[in-house]
Amino acid sequence: MRKVALVGAGISKFGVRRASYRDLIWEAGKACFDSVAGIKPRDVEGLVVGSVMPERTAFQSHISSMAAEALGIKPSVLSARTEHMCASGTVGIRYAYAFIAAGLADLVMVLGVEKLNQPSSDEAILNMGTGVDREWEAAFGLTAPPCFALAAQRHMAEYGTTEEQLGLVGVKNHTHASKNPNAHFGKGATLEQVLGSRMIASPLRLFMCSPITDGAAAVIVASEERARALTDRPVWIRGTGQALDGFQLTSLHEDYAHWPALKRAADAAYTMAGVRPGDVDLAEVHDCFAIAEMIAYEELGFCKKGEAGAFVAAGRSDYGGDVVVNPRGGLIGCGHPLGATGVAQAAEVFVQLRGQAGPRQVADATIGLTHNNSGMGEHVVMIYGSEPA
Ligand SMILES: CC(C)(COP(=O)(O)OP(=O)(O)OC[C@H]1O[C@@H](n2cnc3c(N)ncnc32)[C@H](O)[C@@H]1OP(=O)(O)O)[C@@H](O)C(=O)NCCC(=O)NCCS
Repeated sequence: MRKVALVGAGISKFGVRRASYRDLIWEAGKACFDSVAGIKPRDVEGLVVGSVMPERTAFQSHISSMAAEALGIKPSVLSARTEHMCASGTVGIRYAYAFIAAGLADLVMVLGVEKLNQPSSDEAILNMGTGVDREWEAAFGLTAPPCFALAAQRHMAEYGTTEEQLGLVGVKNHTHASKNPNAHFGKGATLEQVLGSRMIASPLRLFMCSPITDGAAAVIVASEERARALTDRPVWIRGTGQALDGFQLTSLHEDYAHWPALKRAADAAYTMAGVRPGDVDLAEVHDCFAIAEMIAYEELGFCKKGEAGAFVAAGRSDYGGDVVVNPRGGLIGCGHPLGATGVAQAAEVFVQLRGQAGPRQVADATIGLTHNNSGMGEHVVMIYGSEPA
């Protein structure tokens, strides 16, 4: 297989945006093209767009062609849309990676975009319910917040994890987001604010949840030859893994606080990349709710099972700790525009490994990991390096 790297990345402002779906595509696409000298839209041979529900939220389908036209791209080898709920963006990056590694393409843009906010937040929350089983979960009110609340309750019962430890994830990620001008939230948060915020699904309070966000992100993926010609600092894709335990929550009935599919996806990525958990300098993990970040610490091997509460409380997932988790502010601080999230995670690793992250910079970062999940039962992990494997 050929070596593959990221050579450009850009994101739109995330938040409750007045921008249209197409405006968001323009914003992220332009930022991405601006990040790398020497590439014009006509040079890009392929476009993959991760987007979950534009038919419902923007009354638009035929997404990849629409985005290609908006950005002036004329795909000649690959044009596709990936819909894989919250992991749509990273799944798109995997497709671009596979095409380029196989020699079928040399330069592909992956763009993620979602326009989730609606005039009524009830409508927006109803739309989010399409990601769980309609007949057996959503119809009974079992949408994402209560699903992840069950995982949190199980973790608390099994390992003694506390509400305060869950709250510290919210504090960390809101604080990181305050250094990210593109984040949904920018004011930071204290533990008192997090623990005093309204209850959403016990024990998860508002500041322990990701919000409903509009946004887009884009990266340009290149073959080794093109990457080396375009930049002296490519960010190499070193490993990737994806695994599924199940779609329905009941597929995880043995223990909601164990996510074996995440461990399998991570093990595959670590093996392919030739790195260990202790080698990872920064990790963009899928903190759709605070408990998800804590279980990710464990399944990614940053700490032992059951020790996530102590891990975050000791500052081991923050600057100065073992691994900086969610330096851009995560989904809790940046927001979670579904299809855009995985691409935005990759964009953060891109700037971090090039030393271009400004006040968020993780010192001497050479290995970055992204974790993107779709529900509690399916996980995708990518490992990037400043040097190829
Ligand atoms: C948590 C949640 C239910 C709150 O929704 P809501 O009660 O309708 O809140 P609203 O959108 O009406 O916003 C009300 C206020 O709360 C704030 N807010 C909303 N969500 C927030 C969050 N997650 N964190 C912090 N503040 C939030 C808004 O900014 C707004 O503040 P303002 O009054 O100062 O403008 C909603 O954000 C949600 O469903 N999040 C989870 C999304 C999800 O499931 N993603 C998929 C994960 S797998």
